Amino acid sequence: MNPTHAAHESPPPTAPARPIGRAAAVVGLQWGDEGKGKVIDLLAGSFDAVVRYNGGANAGHSVVIEGRRHALHLIPSGVFHPRVKGVIGNGVVIDPESLVREIEGVVAAGVGALDLAISDRAHVVMPYHKLEDAAREAALAAQHGPASAIGTTKRGIGPAYADKATRATAVRMGDLLRPALLRDKLARILPAKAAVLRALAPDAPVDLDAERLATDALRLGEKLAPRITDTTYLLHDMLARGGSLLFEGANATLLDVDHGTFPYVTSSNCSVLGIPAGTGVPGSHLSRVIGVMKAYCTRVGGGPFPTELLDERGNRIRERGREYGTTTGRPRRCGWLDLVALRYAVMLNGVTSIALMLLDVLAGFDEICVCTGYRIDGRVTDRFVPDAEVLAHVQPVYERLPGFASEIGSARARADLPRQALDYVRFIEQATGVPVEIVSVGPDRAQTIKGA
Ligand code: GDP
Ligand code: IMO
Ligand code: MG
Repeated sequence: MNPTHAAHESPPPTAPARPIGRAAAVVGLQWGDEGKGKVIDLLAGSFDAVVRYNGGANAGHSVVIEGRRHALHLIPSGVFHPRVKGVIGNGVVIDPESLVREIEGVVAAGVGALDLAISDRAHVVMPYHKLEDAAREAALAAQHGPASAIGTTKRGIGPAYADKATRATAVRMGDLLRPALLRDKLARILPAKAAVLRALAPDAPVDLDAERLATDALRLGEKLAPRITDTTYLLHDMLARGGSLLFEGANATLLDVDHGTFPYVTSSNCSVLGIPAGTGVPGSHLSRVIGVMKAYCTRVGGGPFPTELLDERGNRIRERGREYGTTTGRPRRCGWLDLVALRYAVMLNGVTSIALMLLDVLAGFDEICVCTGYRIDGRVTDRFVPDAEVLAHVQPVYERLPGFASEIGSARARADLPRQALDYVRFIEQATGVPVEIVSVGPDRAQTIKGA
C-alpha cells in the first residue's frame, strides 16, 4: 500500500467548525480608568462570556451595584451576572497570589459559583517580577530624576512581559501544574534574576529561595488547577455553538505599548489590536467596538498630558470624580477633554459607539474647554503624536463650550439633561463621527442613560 492510498483510506480530518458567533469589545480611549468596569457590567448580561486579553493586576475596574463597590483587577468585570463565563486569555499576565485573593473576595461578595477559565498559556507574574518592577522604577528616578520613572503600578507587569519576550526565563500558568518542570525552570531562572536585582539595588537584600518560590507557586497552581485550560479552543468552541463574547480591554489605548505615549505606557497592546494575539480569536469576529471615554481626561503615573490642569479646576475634577487610583490609590492627574487624542483612539480601535462616562463631574463649571488641535513649532495639527518627547511640548488649542450648573446624577434619559450637557454630548458625537450609546451620570449601574 502506498502512502497516498493509506492517507485516502483513513477517516477524513474533521473540518474546522465554521464560526457563527458574535463578538464585541469594550476598550478605554484615554489613559485608563474611563469607567470600563461599569460599562462591562452594564453589557455583560447579553453575552455568554467576558474575556480579558491584556494587562494584569495593574488594571482596576470598579463595578457599583446598589451602592456596593467592587474592585476587580484580573477577574473580568462581567462576573456579577449569573451564567456569564469569565475568561482570562493567554495575553494576560497573571499574579496567581493576587488572583486567588480576588477569587475569594468575589465569592465572599456572593457571586455564587464563579465560572472562570484561565489560559494555560497566560504568563505568570512571579514575586521577583514585582521586586524588579519597583527596583527599576527606583533606579530610573535615582539616576535620571523622578520624571523619568514611568510611574508603574509596581505589579510586575513590565518584567513579566519582558520575560515572555525573552522566552527562556518565562513561567506560564500551565507550568504551575507541573512540579518537576517548574522546579527545574526556577533553578535556571533564579540566579539570573538575583543578579539583575543586585545590579539594580546593590544595597537591598535579595532573598530568592527556590524551594519557597516553587512551593508557593505550586500551592497557588493547585488552587487554580480546575480553572486552568486551553482558552483558545474554549472560545472557538463557544463561537462555533453560536455563543457571544465580550472582550474587556484593560488599561487603555494611550497606554498601548505600540500605539500609546511611549515610553510612558504599559507593556501590552491594550487597544482592540491586542485581542487576536491575546485570545487566539481573529479580529474578523469583532462586529461592535464600544469605546469608553471620560467627559474629561485623567492620567495616573508619568508621561505627557497636554490638557492637564494644574490649578483649582483640576482639583475640582479630582474631588468631584473621586479620581484616586482603584489599584494604587494614587491621585490621578486631571485635565480637559483632548479631542486630538480621542479621535486617534477612535480610529485605532475602529470604534462603533461611545460610552461617555462621568459627565456628572463637569456640573458647575461656567465653561468647559475641549482641545481640538495641537500647536507644534507654531503650526496647528489635529493629528495625535504617540511619542512622549514630542507630546510633552505641544500646546493645546482649545474650543470653549458653555458649562451646565445643575447636578445631573438623577438623569435617566437624554431629555433629563440640561441643554448645555446635551450639547456637549452632541459635540463629541460630531467631532468623532461616532454615536454616543451610553451616557453615564454616576458610578451606580442605575445612573445610566442608554440609547443614542
Ligand atoms: P476602569 O479602570 O476603566 O474600569 O475605571 P475605574 O473603575 O478605575 O475608575 C472609574 C471610576 O469612576 C470608578 O470609581 C467608578 O465607580 C466611577 N464612575 C464610573 N462611571 C461614573 C460616572 O458616570 N460618574 C461618576 N461620578 N463616577 C463614575
Ligand atoms: P485600568 O484598566 C490607569 C499606567 C500606570 C503607569 C503605566 C505603566 O484600571 O484602566 P504598569 O504597572 O502597567 O507597568 O504601569 O500605565 N496604568 C494605568 N493607568 N489605569 C490602568 O488600568 C492602568 N494600567 C497601567 O499608572 O503610568
Ligand atoms: Mg481603573
